[in-house]
Amino acid sequence: MRVLVVGKGGREHALATKIAESKSLERIWVAPGNSGMKKMGLECVAVESTPEILIFCKEQKIDLVVLGPEGAILSDLKENLEAQGILCLAPSQKAGQLEASKAFCKKVLVDAGLKTAAFEVAKDELSALEMVAKHDFSKPLVIKADGLAQGKGVHVCANQDQAKKAAQELATHYGFPLLFEQCLIGQELSAFALCDGNDFVFLGTACDYKRITPDPFSLNTGGMGAYSPCGFLTPEDEIEVLNIFKKSLKVLKDQNTPFSGFLFAGLMKTAEGLYILEFNVRMGDPETQALLPRIKSDFLDLLVKAAKVQLKGQKIEFFDQNSVHVVAVSGGYPTNQMILGKEIRTPQSTAEGTQLFFAGVMEQQGQLVNTGGRVLGVTAVAETRSQAREMAYREIKNIHFEGIYFREDIGL
Ligand SMILES: Nc1ncnc2c1ncn2[C@@H]1O[C@H](COP(=O)(O)OP(=O)(O)O)[C@@H](O)[C@H]1O
Ligand SMILES: [Mg+2]
Repeated sequence: MRVLVVGKGGREHALATKIAESKSLERIWVAPGNSGMKKMGLECVAVESTPEILIFCKEQKIDLVVLGPEGAILSDLKENLEAQGILCLAPSQKAGQLEASKAFCKKVLVDAGLKTAAFEVAKDELSALEMVAKHDFSKPLVIKADGLAQGKGVHVCANQDQAKKAAQELATHYGFPLLFEQCLIGQELSAFALCDGNDFVFLGTACDYKRITPDPFSLNTGGMGAYSPCGFLTPEDEIEVLNIFKKSLKVLKDQNTPFSGFLFAGLMKTAEGLYILEFNVRMGDPETQALLPRIKSDFLDLLVKAAKVQLKGQKIEFFDQNSVHVVAVSGGYPTNQMILGKEIRTPQSTAEGTQLFFAGVMEQQGQLVNTGGRVLGVTAVAETRSQAREMAYREIKNIHFEGIYFREDIGL
């Protein structure tokens, strides 16, 4: 198989690394990838637009294209590739609405009879103000923008004033509709499935860390680390997670938007059971870097089967191990005053059981330098999470660049 992975972050580095382990792989590229991946032996190709990618796929006789980021997934790339007869693992643009519209997602969840926070949709300012006015604030009110907002579209509001302000701000930035949700209390986790429109294989669970420091009111980031599996689900919860994917896929198929690709469920384990916060139509970054190293099965075979609607009856095997992934970011992140362009020094090789995944890096005069917020991450896999944690931190402490910062509590 000749494979192209589209994207340039740590997630795509982990995807390409896992695919590269497959027996059926002939050659793999990442487009555009990054200099860190290159340094670790992956081929990268500087194509980014749909026409460029189409030409490259034809020239190189690519058998399968895997799309990493939501930008590529929500574009017309898959449709264009398939029009040329090139297999592409990603949801259709229409099924992408599951992430691009929270109202669409809610409708699927309700139709599937699944548990999700009670909600109402406000179409204009008047109804938004009404919804704020009628809430008694014995519990907070959650207000969400409908569309993509890069993690900035959700406000948890403790009182009327906060809620009014949040609704106004969200409406100004993202427009209507807005969603008003009941606030759930519990433990958050993410669950992942590889889907072919009809069937799925379960890829596991992970927990991620969104804030820049352990302070829950500190600034939001793209993700500072993750561990897998999440470790607090009962066997009954695990059955329920499978049920969530099964029922949602059935509703989507029945409504003529069959879902293929990676499905990411944001879940909350509450005293009343598992609730679904949202779906994303891609793998998570950094959850992917924690999840994939735990997979034992031939990953590429499963991806091809998903793209060809042949997942029925497929099984997936995992290493019976825990993983911890720690992200190192540039000094100043997530503000726009970051310390960038600093030389990154990494050890010649990483310790057994650990892997390095690169994100915001570039090569400058033969040196790797940091060019983005999230620079790189280390995953460690071991029998217990605390062993994995220790290994990941031992490894990341061997990596140096001016301003480097990482959270110390990933996987605790
Ligand atoms: N109904 C809810 N109750 C409590 N917290 C919520 C609720 N909805 C969202 N959140 C919190 O806000 C975060 C972001 O919400 P989410 O729906 O995942 O949107 P997005 O990831 O698109 O920003 C969640 O990870 C969760 O911590
Ligand atoms: Mg989310």
